[in-house]
Amino acid sequence: MDRLKTLFKAQLISSVEEIKTLVKSHGTRIIDNVQIEQVYGGMRGIQSMIWETSSLDSSEGIRFRGYSIPELRELLPKINGATEPLPEGLFWLMLTGNLPTEEDVKWLSKEWQQRAVLSDTVKELLDHLDVKKTHPMTQFSIAIMAMQSESVFAQEYENGMNKASYWEIMYEDCMNLIAKLPLVAAFIYRKSFYDNQHIAADPDLDWSANFAHMLGKDEPAFKDLMRLYMTIHADHEGGNASAHTVHLVGSTLSDAYLSLAAGMNALAGPLHGLANQEVMDWIYDMIRDLGTPNPSREQIAEYVKTTLSHGVVVPGYGHAVLRKPDPRFLAQKDFAEKHCADDPMVQIVWHVFEEVPPILESLGKVKNPWPNVDAHSGALLEHFGVKEHNFYTVMFGVSRALGVLAQLCWDRALNLPLERPKSMTTEEIKGFLSNSNN
Ligand SMILES: CC(C)(COP(=O)(O)OP(=O)(O)OC[C@H]1O[C@@H](n2cnc3c(N)ncnc32)[C@H](O)[C@@H]1OP(=O)(O)O)[C@@H](O)C(=O)NCCC(=O)NCCS
Repeated sequence: MDRLKTLFKAQLISSVEEIKTLVKSHGTRIIDNVQIEQVYGGMRGIQSMIWETSSLDSSEGIRFRGYSIPELRELLPKINGATEPLPEGLFWLMLTGNLPTEEDVKWLSKEWQQRAVLSDTVKELLDHLDVKKTHPMTQFSIAIMAMQSESVFAQEYENGMNKASYWEIMYEDCMNLIAKLPLVAAFIYRKSFYDNQHIAADPDLDWSANFAHMLGKDEPAFKDLMRLYMTIHADHEGGNASAHTVHLVGSTLSDAYLSLAAGMNALAGPLHGLANQEVMDWIYDMIRDLGTPNPSREQIAEYVKTTLSHGVVVPGYGHAVLRKPDPRFLAQKDFAEKHCADDPMVQIVWHVFEEVPPILESLGKVKNPWPNVDAHSGALLEHFGVKEHNFYTVMFGVSRALGVLAQLCWDRALNLPLERPKSMTTEEIKGFLSNSNN
């Protein structure tokens, strides 16, 4: 058993015992009340599922196993000359609850490199898609589905796998899948935008740096951006649409490939991950409509009001949980201040940051007027030459896989059951009201 799996096993044995005792002693305690407006309002805030890898506080933002993003930028190992933490370290932390050593991170980098093989079948399938008509996120989802025939979990289940082995085999699927995702994403990128001219993996590079290399972007600062990007997008607790989808589909004992592909389809929606593409498209529309590449703050404010008057959301702003500027936005702003503060697109993003919150606040209905993670990422990617906006959500997806697959391992380790909340009809709600009024 490898070193990460051994540590995971030790953690899960104690967690399973702890949770068993907790549920036995306190299983009937009420943890939350549900209001009718929450039932109609997309279940906002209802505490009703377990997610071990991270937790989201509305003011503080995301904490991964208790660590905030600024803390992780300090504490996670940086190897190969990196100035940003490696997402390998974050995956280790999410899976085991412990910060890894440099040795651990080096080992995991190597392990993922060894597992990173993309079959000809998947490449041929992708080659058959019309890149002009098929969005990169659709290609990504199709590729993950095409790899499903490689699922060890699905094969072992068919062979009559013992329940007690679910976690062990799920771990293998998740590790293989994470290892392959940069290959898949880079293949889609080079096929769609570089005339099918592919770049071979460099086995000496860590997961993110190798992804940057396969995209064709070898600048050291871009490799660091990828390390930061892949770390901060990885997980945002369990209730967000992509994470929840992976968890729900996984609860049917679908394997990691089926579950992740479903989650990626959720990430592809404009209110979720596609917002990173929308932000850049919106800025380009603004530049075109205003007829200037350097709009003033006043022009930006007017354009925001025009956008709102058309009944369209301002992409990259607002959040279902957060009520402060997203620390993932601030981490990217900090990176931009160090590496590309004078970039005109970065400047626009910062001006938008100054203008949008008071305007959204003045509407009186937007619960969070602040920027989210998607408000900044595109400007940084563009600065380093990744200019194809419709590829951005694929990059988000590669990162998001880390969190949702670490949790999928925990789902099977804890033997979490089939997810099945109770739905209600409006007639039933009305019946409930008239009964409770009597
Ligand atoms: C993220 C988002 C879907 C959260 O939705 P939510 O939890 O329903 O947000 P709220 O409770 O604040 O929404 C209340 C109202 O404010 C509006 N609102 C929220 N964010 C807005 C924005 N960025 N621009 C304009 N209006 C916005 C909502 O559309 C809603 O209007 P309605 O009552 O007329 O339907 C929403 O803020 C949004 O659409 N943002 C833009 C897309 C985006 O950046 N997505 C990425 C999220 S990480």
